[in-house]
Amino acid sequence: MTRHIAERYIRFAQLEAAGQSPIYERLALHVARSQNCLGFLSTLPADRQQPNLLFAAVRHVAGNISCPEAFDRVIRDRAEEVATVMRRRTTQTNEPGRCAVLLTLLAQITGPITLIEVGASAGLCLLPDVYGYDWGDHKLPPPPEFEGRAPILQCNTSPGTPRPMAHPDIIWRAGLDLNPLDVSRDADVAWLEQLVWPEHQLRLDRLRSAVSVAQCCPPRLVAGDLTQDLPALIAEAPPNATVVVFHTAVLTYVADQQRRDAFARNMLESDAIWISNEGPRVFPQFAARAGQYREDMFLLMQNGQPLTWTGPHGQQIAWLSATQA
Ligand SMILES: C[S@@+](CC[C@H](N)C(=O)[O-])C[C@H]1O[C@@H](n2cnc3c(N)ncnc32)[C@H](O)[C@@H]1O
Repeated sequence: MTRHIAERYIRFAQLEAAGQSPIYERLALHVARSQNCLGFLSTLPADRQQPNLLFAAVRHVAGNISCPEAFDRVIRDRAEEVATVMRRRTTQTNEPGRCAVLLTLLAQITGPITLIEVGASAGLCLLPDVYGYDWGDHKLPPPPEFEGRAPILQCNTSPGTPRPMAHPDIIWRAGLDLNPLDVSRDADVAWLEQLVWPEHQLRLDRLRSAVSVAQCCPPRLVAGDLTQDLPALIAEAPPNATVVVFHTAVLTYVADQQRRDAFARNMLESDAIWISNEGPRVFPQFAARAGQYREDMFLLMQNGQPLTWTGPHGQQIAWLSATQA
């Protein structure tokens, strides 16, 4: 039992934290060796044993810790507090930076658009028409009314990446989530901040700017399950606009591949444009069309067609060549 947990933490250290967060890499390798930590994790349900959840919960209880021995002490001395957070909360990282990759597709869709996000967390990715963008050789400032307030999302791009010239014309938007977070609640905002990895100050800064913009114009969020409740939300969208349904870093939480595939079939059979930005294991049937496999990246697809590999936090675009896509 604890062997599986240890392997999961080693995988996390090697595939996710390495090169991104030396602190989490060190702590994850420590957890994988620590009988104290492994014993603690084995008392939790399997879907509450994730590294991101454990590390954010420890930060919630004890603040930033980078030393393995201190981490071990928190798990030993404050186990019940950490476990309570891990049972009550889930990993709901809301990364507005992902809009920098989404916009390359959204800006090409004929508007007006009704935008629906499944797995929206606090809805920060539902505001792509509010943020500014810096793709290196091409920039798009925020609309004048958000200038100076909205974050500027930076993203490295490869040759062939489309250059959005204008924000999409979004006339209606809504998000669906099992547990929508509320940007007007301090506890939810604190949890969003604790989910940002410790060294990622730039991500924390842009999260704070995005939250402050969202507090002024919060997108509508509905509690529900994407595998059941999406048709009812689509039915609410006003007519005479292109319906776009998207998700980023979400379908991996639908553990059953058959349910993911049923969702994909429903999307392909619907009239909506379907944008998916997920790790390549989520829809292997589509990822196979992308050529070279990138375990460390997300795959951005429109209607099941892979178009580009993307950095998991929206920091990078590696556009597929015409022969790959
Ligand atoms: C990692 S967060 C990603 C949030 C946002 N899409 C982003 O990229 O910033 C995943 C979100 O998906 C939600 N989620 C997971 N499974 C879901 C389901 N079956 N139906 C609706 N939401 C779900 C979680 O509650 C969480 O808020």
